[in-house]
Amino acid sequence: MRTTLTSSCEEAAAFIRRGELAAFPTETVYGLGADALDVTAVKRIFEVKGRPTDNPMIVHLANADDIQSVVREISRAAGLLVSAFVPGPLTLVLEKASIIPMEVTAGLTTVGVRVPAHPVAHEFLSACGRPVAAPSANRSGAPSPTTWESVREDLDGLVPCILKGDRSAVGLESTVVDCTGSTPMILREGAIGLDMLRTIVPGVQPSSTSGGRTERSPGLRHRHYAPEARVRLYDPDAPVPAESSAYIGVSRPLAEAGFEIVMICRDVDHYAHELFHFFRECDRKGVRRIYCQRPPASGIGAALLDRIVRAGEPASRKG
Ligand code: TXA
Ligand code: MG
Repeated sequence: MRTTLTSSCEEAAAFIRRGELAAFPTETVYGLGADALDVTAVKRIFEVKGRPTDNPMIVHLANADDIQSVVREISRAAGLLVSAFVPGPLTLVLEKASIIPMEVTAGLTTVGVRVPAHPVAHEFLSACGRPVAAPSANRSGAPSPTTWESVREDLDGLVPCILKGDRSAVGLESTVVDCTGSTPMILREGAIGLDMLRTIVPGVQPSSTSGGRTERSPGLRHRHYAPEARVRLYDPDAPVPAESSAYIGVSRPLAEAGFEIVMICRDVDHYAHELFHFFRECDRKGVRRIYCQRPPASGIGAALLDRIVRAGEPASRKG
């Protein structure tokens, strides 16, 4: 299959409208979209990504007002979060409306909904004129793509269309908040951190590995975000290994000369923006180990830490 690269939202949306796939930019990471109401198209996403079929997909919408058409009801807490953070890097999990097929939600009665803030995503989704199911546009298990070139690296010849945009501003996937229970609970950390959510809904529960988080968010069972190189949190007291290594963080490592590639970020937001891109660059250069400075555990730092730790998990859990 030849992959069409285009900067035209209308051209990319035409693929979705005729039941084909198209990758598109958002402010978090690039997504791989299909008409969420077309079961055949949705199934194709799982095939192309090599994605486990028990991992539900997020439904993307052009406008906050469209959310009501794909969910049973918007709880009070969910409504407050929508007013504060939508459009933006936030996914809300709500009871799904019957029009959303079980194939999208991997058999769950809930659906994750997101309205991206990215202007190109907005124009593309408006032109699609329907809800678009989309996971991140990488091969399953690989780091999410933050550039159209990374999408092409993973999916060239496998997807009919890639809508080219700029580099994703955030660089990590959206915060996922389950709003189906009596108090909202974070299922996946992202740019909208616990503190920000709590300024609007004080009862929001932090993510935890206990309390049914992996049961409620099946995607968390699977290994994610991992480059070929082994990923580790940087320990300044440990010796630099003999293998070719890379380092990323906001301050310089000790024995900097021992690293083949060193990336010093301006601050934690920049660190988040760079992480997945850096993982891919390290793989292209054949680096064997990537050391990541431990980020602060609050704000987007919590999301960064989550991605770094999960990228370092053993491959046996790969999904
Ligand atoms: O920023 C993002 O969220 C990007 C862009 C493209 O929007 N999308 C993305 O999709 O990261 P994906 O499929 O790679 O990750 C979706 C996450 C998974 O952890 C999945 O388990 C969870 O959201 N999720 C989706 N629907 C859910 C549901 N109904 N209940 C619980 N978790 C859900
Ligand atoms: Mg993903």
